[in-house]
Amino acid sequence: MKPLFILNFKLYPEAAGTKALRLIDIFSKVKSQRYELILAPPTSLLGQARQRTGLPLLAQHSDPVLLGAYTGHISPQELKLLGIEGTLLNHSERRIPLAQIAKTIALCQKHRRMTVVCASTLAEIKKIARLHPDAIAYEPPALIGGSVSVTSAKPEIIADAVRLVHRISPLTTVLCGAGVHTREDVKAALSLGTRGVLIGHAVLRARKPGEKIRELMG
Ligand code: G3P
Repeated sequence: MKPLFILNFKLYPEAAGTKALRLIDIFSKVKSQRYELILAPPTSLLGQARQRTGLPLLAQHSDPVLLGAYTGHISPQELKLLGIEGTLLNHSERRIPLAQIAKTIALCQKHRRMTVVCASTLAEIKKIARLHPDAIAYEPPALIGGSVSVTSAKPEIIADAVRLVHRISPLTTVLCGAGVHTREDVKAALSLGTRGVLIGHAVLRARKPGEKIRELMG
């Protein structure tokens, strides 16, 4: 499997509404032999995104509900109906309790949707690894959106996270994110043992997002 390169659109003004759709078109033209590019566009656009791109798509959050009387919820079962590959969970901008993470992972497994669960400490990574998600992304909140990459600020924690997860849940992929903004940061993430990165502002708020992503992928 190629390392993952996950772009989180969040709700950045540059990456919302019709601008998000234009970005999806731009990213769909990026061909990489090295990485698997995955997009996490705004939730309200997932259906339209699915019609515009063959790239794998993730919701930015999901809830532990089936289909039914669940106003305002995002159901893994509906993701499946829409052809959305999976979901981010517990992003530091959308934290949820551990029990809710567990239920949502179970539902995603039932409906064969990919789970990428974010964690901000080794203690949290340990608890989440016991739930066996497809991937755990280490993202220290203080570095998110900044210009210092997690790979230079916390390299030892990334390496520890990789060891910890492999001991508890060998099939879970480890990713990292927060402040990743150069080709060197991406290479460092892989050399520390992760299998990919989550990236927000460096690409989604870039003046030329298409050029920036190509630069980061090398
Ligand atoms: O989900 C990715 C994100 O939290 C990292 O954001 O802007 O620091 O790359 P950023």
